[in-house]
Amino acid sequence: MATLAPIPHPPGWPWLGNIFDLDPEDSLKAIDAFAKQYGGIYTLTFFGNTLTIINSHAIAQELLDERRFHKSVVNNALETIRCLTGDALFTAYHGEENWGIAHRILVPAFGPASILGMFDDMYDILSQLVLKWERFGPKHAIDPADDFTRLAFDTIAYCAMSHRLNSFYTEGVPPFVAAMGSFLRESDGRASRPWFLTWLMRARNAKYEEDQRKMNELARQIVEERRANPGTRKDLLTAMLEGRDPQTGKTLTDENIMQQMITFLIAGHETTSGFLSFMMFYILSNPDVYAKLRAEVDAVVGQERMRPEHLSRLPYMTAVMRETMRLKSTIPMFIVTPFEDEVIGGKYLVKKGENLFVGVMNIHRDKEVYGEDAEEFKPERMMDGKFEALPPKAWIPFGNGQRACIGRAFAWQEAQLALTTLFQKFDFRLADPEYKLQINQTLTIKPKNLRIYATPRKDTTFNLGLAPTPSAVRPSKGTVPVETVVVDSKLKPMHVFFGSNTGSCEMFAQRLANDAPAYGFRATLGTLDSTKSEIPSDGPVVIITASFEGEPPDNAGQFVKYIEGVPGANAPFSDVRYAVFGCGNRDWVHTYQRIPKLVDATLASKGAQRLLERGEADAGGEGFFESFDDWESKLWPVLVETFGAVASKDPTAGLDVNMSAPTKRASTLRQEDAQLGTVLENKLLTKPGAIGSAKRHLEFKLPEGMSYRSGDYLAILPTNPVSSVRRVLARFNLTPEQEITISSSTPTTLPVGQPVNISDLFSGYVELAQPATRKNIEALIRRAPETGKTHDALLQLLVDYVPAVLEKRLSVLHLVETYQDIDITLSVFLTMLPAMRVRQYSISSSPLWDPTRVTLTIGVLREAALGDSQELFQGVASSYLASLAPGDRVQMAVRPSAAAFHLPADPAIPVVMFASGSGIAPMRGFMQERAAQKATGREVGKTILFYGCRSPEYDFLYGDAELASWVAQGVVEVRPAFSRATERSEGCRYVQDRVLHDREDVIEAFCRNAKFYTCGSIRVAVGVKAACMSIIEDLLKSEAHSNEHDPNVKTADDFWAKLVNERYAADIFG
Ligand SMILES: Cc1cc2nc3c(=O)[nH]c(=O)nc-3n(C[C@H](O)[C@H](O)[C@H](O)COP(=O)(O)OP(=O)(O)OC[C@H]3O[C@@H](n4cnc5c(N)ncnc54)[C@H](O)[C@@H]3O)c2cc1C
Ligand code: HEM
Ligand SMILES: Cc1cc2nc3c(=O)[nH]c(=O)nc-3n(C[C@H](O)[C@H](O)[C@H](O)COP(=O)(O)O)c2cc1C
Repeated sequence: MATLAPIPHPPGWPWLGNIFDLDPEDSLKAIDAFAKQYGGIYTLTFFGNTLTIINSHAIAQELLDERRFHKSVVNNALETIRCLTGDALFTAYHGEENWGIAHRILVPAFGPASILGMFDDMYDILSQLVLKWERFGPKHAIDPADDFTRLAFDTIAYCAMSHRLNSFYTEGVPPFVAAMGSFLRESDGRASRPWFLTWLMRARNAKYEEDQRKMNELARQIVEERRANPGTRKDLLTAMLEGRDPQTGKTLTDENIMQQMITFLIAGHETTSGFLSFMMFYILSNPDVYAKLRAEVDAVVGQERMRPEHLSRLPYMTAVMRETMRLKSTIPMFIVTPFEDEVIGGKYLVKKGENLFVGVMNIHRDKEVYGEDAEEFKPERMMDGKFEALPPKAWIPFGNGQRACIGRAFAWQEAQLALTTLFQKFDFRLADPEYKLQINQTLTIKPKNLRIYATPRKDTTFNLGLAPTPSAVRPSKGTVPVETVVVDSKLKPMHVFFGSNTGSCEMFAQRLANDAPAYGFRATLGTLDSTKSEIPSDGPVVIITASFEGEPPDNAGQFVKYIEGVPGANAPFSDVRYAVFGCGNRDWVHTYQRIPKLVDATLASKGAQRLLERGEADAGGEGFFESFDDWESKLWPVLVETFGAVASKDPTAGLDVNMSAPTKRASTLRQEDAQLGTVLENKLLTKPGAIGSAKRHLEFKLPEGMSYRSGDYLAILPTNPVSSVRRVLARFNLTPEQEITISSSTPTTLPVGQPVNISDLFSGYVELAQPATRKNIEALIRRAPETGKTHDALLQLLVDYVPAVLEKRLSVLHLVETYQDIDITLSVFLTMLPAMRVRQYSISSSPLWDPTRVTLTIGVLREAALGDSQELFQGVASSYLASLAPGDRVQMAVRPSAAAFHLPADPAIPVVMFASGSGIAPMRGFMQERAAQKATGREVGKTILFYGCRSPEYDFLYGDAELASWVAQGVVEVRPAFSRATERSEGCRYVQDRVLHDREDVIEAFCRNAKFYTCGSIRVAVGVKAACMSIIEDLLKSEAHSNEHDPNVKTADDFWAKLVNERYAADIFG
């Protein structure tokens, strides 16, 4: 029996205890100081309550043993916030039923595949932050904690419940955010205040109630809206509304769902924003770290827009993140309590139910673990195997065991994406180079008074908007039917079992089962627990499983218990032939792959025959999906040989039809987010005979799960016009049926290693009409006869390159057609052609009209070629779109437009739009949105459209139909300018003339805080700007303006710059 000792205790006042020792804004400072004085464990008292704090890694080891201790929510700050979040995940008492149900439903939704699927949505919100900082300019001292809070808030709201909080577009603090902030501050106060003091604070209590009401109201509204319009978005809210607990079959109540949503907002915003802010501080305070980090970002991601594949290729950044988390864990403590009275540290008695504070930040600075330099920021200690070599539970910023953070992967991806993109875009420096870190503390911690400057980098051309956004991995859609059987009497039996909580093992298992028929097997598929203690022996058994805190996934526990429990003496599994693949994460250093290893070793030790060495994939490392592909490619030959299966020549063997081909082109062309949409309508908007390009209206059914905002773009992956492909075939003397196989020693966007039809290749993979480059022409010269007309002509083109080739847009195809004596092979020709590009089109509809459908308004480019008037030039994408018929399938992806090019969140704000031709596209979406809002009784501000076209009869797009009806409904006022019928537009020829004509309306809208948008050709943008400048100059001279004079606005240029910064957005094409 140990000799007990009292826990060290700094002296305090009677009853009040140590209350005066702590600074309420930064209690950690005193807690740290006491830790230095009193060591690994001590107690503080407040108003008679005792608080025990553990600071050493050695004692914490005991507290983190889930057999002896569990999370405590009784008599502490977490219990205070239960009035809002009830038994949702964060604040549920230990063992409360709803925790288990929600945990089992939600863990898959927070799994690696789901989180990767949120990549683009995270990017969407992040671009709003980047644009804001860009607009601030280099002289504005940014409060990173404030903007990272907006980022984290909007990201979790959008990714979890598809709700846009629009914090970046709201003046001041958005009401929901304000309510949550004041609720948390008061909760914190209540936790450390005697109840009667709280009782006396009537005004505060009323505010506390009001804050809760506001938050509940928003949550209720979101749930009700989703129930009314389920849509196709698969987010966490859908998982909660549709999910059923696999263990009890129960679902979550609406009240619980609301509490979970508020929980995610609370748990997911302060933590991540504090994390990012501390990271900024450490990086900017350590120039060498800054330099290394930026070098890594530039080398790995460069000028590209970040893609999911990059996440695992930034080891130094990962180390910076881990080291920041070590020194400044944004949840600096969590609370546990023993199941029974316990003795810890060999001599300290702690009572059942007593709150014990695990002092994460002090444990993270324990010199026994981290050495004498534990206080210093050194990312290097977190990389090259050193992180993995740390003792168990020495790095615990995300909590412990089953109550550890469910949002860890979410926060990690969000932070990594933000950090990478911000360092791609900006140079940063501390506003005050002498700044010393101070802490702001509520439930979490953040830096206080940290300010930074962000200057757009001059050494890169990184651009947020237009780069492609392929996401390497899409989340697995739905769950597989357990015990699926693919029947074919000629196929051999095979059994695939998975243990999976968050879906990745299940996804891999599904893939194996799908692939099985092609290798001569019919596969059953089920969870490990579905084996019901009988492991099949009539064919190979393939097991794919994960581990969670070293334990089996929820659907594998009985299986693991069974194989461990069976006595091994008689080799009970001698009939079983098996292979194991494990998914794990090296962050769980000591239990990495524990369950796959255990299953593999146990089966072998009890007689089963291993068919293939265990494979493994690290969800936190590089090549998670590739690791499985490698292993699968080794597995099939072994299975085919061992079981004498006959790999099928017929790819549709079994019932599994692989329909992957149509999207393959998109992924080969690295447009991985493109999916297939369906054409619903394609109609001509202009009258035949109209001057200029024909304009068309197309309507598409969006691919499942794709969503948009009005003002966004639709990227289209087109095919070349048939006539262009025919020209290639003719030049190279090929028939359309010809198949070729391409091999390449370097990465390429051509389809390699498989036969491909030549027409498909030239139709879909390369651009045929791009101007030849100088290098192309040099290469053609080398292949032309050494002397003679062709040689001279090509040389002349090189000399006059810009006017003769570039401006006339002479393509390589045109040149090899014109100069038939150029001796060029098909492969050389192919290498000269750029990869097929996607084209973006402004979406001309609003999701309020239909979230699953989009429309485009396009101009079809079809005219005599600039370089040869006998040749017809056909724009690739516009001709392709023009040729589509209802039912056709099209590769498409929604791409977010610049943050500023969206309607203001408040529909009451007036809007003024300037457009011409197909530039009406986004404006139509805006008007449709406002019409829908008005129809539901919302107040819609004055909306004016200035629109330029040639005449009311021929090309006044949507003039007779929607525009007239929206005008009649009072949604919009249309001010046309008909260049060929000025008598019908108040004598105005162009948009800018109409703007000047209606200047009073423009000024009035401006004074009412309107937002302004321009879309169309550069000519329109220039004209509109000139007209606005003229109005501004008059305005500056007028008394009306001098009354409200902004001292920073002295000239019309200043005025325009301010307008562009705050209220004007333009989308220019053509
Ligand atoms: C953000 C954004 C939004 C857009 N929104 C819309 C929209 O809503 N509606 C819309 O119609 N378009 C829109 N566009 C333009 C659209 O993306 C395409 O650029 C347009 O449809 C032409 O593409 P294409 O493939 O048909 O032509 P391409 O095959 O790409 O050919 C265009 C190129 O050919 C050149 N060219 C033009 N005429 C000739 C000629 N006679 N001889 C030789 N070369 C010539 C042009 O200089 C240009 O470089 C938008 C563009 C952007 C960037
Ligand atoms: C850097 C960011 C984050 C940090 C440091 C962090 C840290 C933690 C810690 C320490 C706990 C355990 C608390 C305890 O034991 O009382 C926890 C739990 C939790 N976190 Fe996080 N968190 C972060 C981000 C997120 C995000 C983004 C979400 C939501 C999307 C989230 C949701 C939760 C939830 C729901 C729990 C309770 C889990 C349970 O008890 O079942 N967290 N987090
Ligand atoms: C809470 C939690 C605990 C985890 N514990 C471990 C672990 O102990 N060992 C390990 O190798 N991986 C661990 N992982 C990583 C998972 O095993 C890994 O993400 C795996 O891909 C999940 O597979 P699944 O999606 O099929 O459930 C853990 C992940 C989470 C979220």
